[in-house]
Amino acid sequence: MNSKKYYITTPIYYPSGKLHIGHSYTTVAADVMARYKRLQGYDVMFLTGTDEHGQKIERIAKEECVSPKQYVDHIVDGIKDLWALMKITNDKFIRTTDQEHVAAVQKIFKKLYDKGDIYKSKYEGWYCTPCESFWTETQLKNGKCPDCGRDVELTQEESYFFKLSKYQDRLIKYYEEHPDFIQPISRKNEMINNFIKPGLEDLCVSRTSFNWGVPVTFDENHVVYVWIDALSNYITALGYLSDNDDDYKKYWPADVHLVGKEIVRFHTIIWPVMLMALDLPLPKQVYGHGWLILEGGKMSKSKGNVVDPVVLVEKYGLDAIRYFLLREVPFGSDGVFSNEALINRINSDLANDLGNLVSRTAAMIRKYFDGVIPQERQSDEIDNELINTIIKTPESVENLLNQLQFSTALQEIWKAVSRTNKYIDETTPWILARDENSKPRLAQVLYNLTESIRIISILIQPFMPNTPEKIWEQFNICESCRSWDSTKTWGKYAANAKVVEKDPLFPRIDLEKELAELEKMNTDTQDDESNDLPGILSQVSIDDFAKLDLRVAKVISCEKVKKSSKLLKLQLDIGIETRQVVSGIAKYYTPDELVGKKVIMIANLKPAKLMGIESQGMILAASNENQLVLATIDKDIPVGTKLS
Ligand code: ME8
Ligand code: MG
Repeated sequence: MNSKKYYITTPIYYPSGKLHIGHSYTTVAADVMARYKRLQGYDVMFLTGTDEHGQKIERIAKEECVSPKQYVDHIVDGIKDLWALMKITNDKFIRTTDQEHVAAVQKIFKKLYDKGDIYKSKYEGWYCTPCESFWTETQLKNGKCPDCGRDVELTQEESYFFKLSKYQDRLIKYYEEHPDFIQPISRKNEMINNFIKPGLEDLCVSRTSFNWGVPVTFDENHVVYVWIDALSNYITALGYLSDNDDDYKKYWPADVHLVGKEIVRFHTIIWPVMLMALDLPLPKQVYGHGWLILEGGKMSKSKGNVVDPVVLVEKYGLDAIRYFLLREVPFGSDGVFSNEALINRINSDLANDLGNLVSRTAAMIRKYFDGVIPQERQSDEIDNELINTIIKTPESVENLLNQLQFSTALQEIWKAVSRTNKYIDETTPWILARDENSKPRLAQVLYNLTESIRIISILIQPFMPNTPEKIWEQFNICESCRSWDSTKTWGKYAANAKVVEKDPLFPRIDLEKELAELEKMNTDTQDDESNDLPGILSQVSIDDFAKLDLRVAKVISCEKVKKSSKLLKLQLDIGIETRQVVSGIAKYYTPDELVGKKVIMIANLKPAKLMGIESQGMILAASNENQLVLATIDKDIPVGTKLS
């Protein structure tokens, strides 16, 4: 049995919409580690999945008139497709709606309850009746519901609570004894100073106000709320408390939980305490990475920045996207994602540095030696400088990757790329080629270039799923000199291999042209979204509708409201009387167009004043962001006729 084991996880994602490039960040990083450890001979367990319960999902499903399960099934399919596209090599995919997970969470809840670490009490919070949702004091926006902006009421709900407070001292002690537990180190101080020192409060872990969750077996009104359900995935996915817990025994404790910085708190406080309460070992590390700031906000509507991972991968290729994600920003820090930065990186690091090195070397071997480097070769002092740099690279890359320093690991590899490019300038093979006597020297130079490329192509494997294979095919690099270990020995490339012609690895992109095209794509998608209709409001009864007095009205006269660009003042004949109505339609209709028109008005709307002018009702119009069209009647009918 392999004694070298590595268990890495990503957070489980909320299937509440489309994933953007920011979501791919954690998963790509975890995938790089998984691939790297496999290359090093580890037995790897790489887990990702989806966090499918909760009030938010329940509500979205309701809005879309499907069951929560139907709703999540659809989104989860999309998430799985995205990971396939990004060549994510997860060994398991857990869904919190999996039967095994649900059953295990129920057992975990019961265990904690039996132990006295979960107890029943009352939860006090703010309740928005129309939205049927609970909010904490801090979630409110100016004291109102953050979703709909309406008034909220202070309400009590019966809940189960988890005794975090009991474990406070043990947790601090654990941090002290395991200095690597929280990384980067700055996040640890944040946890201690902001959350632990002020005193841990017991955590609300069940709810009765919604149903879409894991039912508490011994108290059916309750469903397990968010964290006990979600965090448990890291062990339930391995079969903890199931009939087959082989994977649990084999892989737990995890080597690292990769998480975004906003959920470090849950992973370094709630999760360790849960594990302590269950008498289970704690994960070795929680790594909180920074955020990719997607300029322009929400993905689909972001201005001038395309952040849909599917589009990006289709346009620039997977390897370029994965490279950019991990190269651009140091893993613990925040950084801005922009298309311009992406294209610049592709052009400089990939097309120019790596791409050119590969294509120039291959072209010279074909041109000067018909594709096969001869055995007769002549070394020189100057070669040692190159060889010494290249041969040190694998170890630095390993050290950095072991600390999840993806960006600096890539920098190390690109130092090797630059050093090799410099070697071409130093040795000037095109001059050597002019003299028949220099052929053995030329052969050595080209061999050294190829050997550098071989080592580099192996080191980029964890980051780039496609490029290494292309390089190996082009240079005919044999199976045995593709192993991770073979990077540590100089001179493994078999010299009689045939080098063939291939397309450039990373074509150069015209920055200006490309940005203009991306901009256009964004505008097009925004046009599509004018079809993005608002959801249907909640139902009303026929009696509610009957309260509205809708009538056919005729415009007798109409004028602009002075000092207003939006308002028109209309006199309307509604049969039994004349009404004055002020309407915000001046941008769409001129007064002349309106006179004589029959429109529809609400005759029993409370009068209101607009710019000091009384408006005795309202006329109906269909409108969106760009258009406004008045509602009229299909055939002529006398004014004052009621609509029903
Ligand atoms: O938090 N840049 O799920 P989630 C970097 N279900 N990372 C980003 C990002 C961005 N712009 N946007 C999102 C949850 N992420 C819980 C986890 S674990 C037991 C439960 C990252 O779908 C985010 O930081 O909101 C997090 O690590 C992951 O995507 C999932 O976020
Ligand atoms: Mg989140």
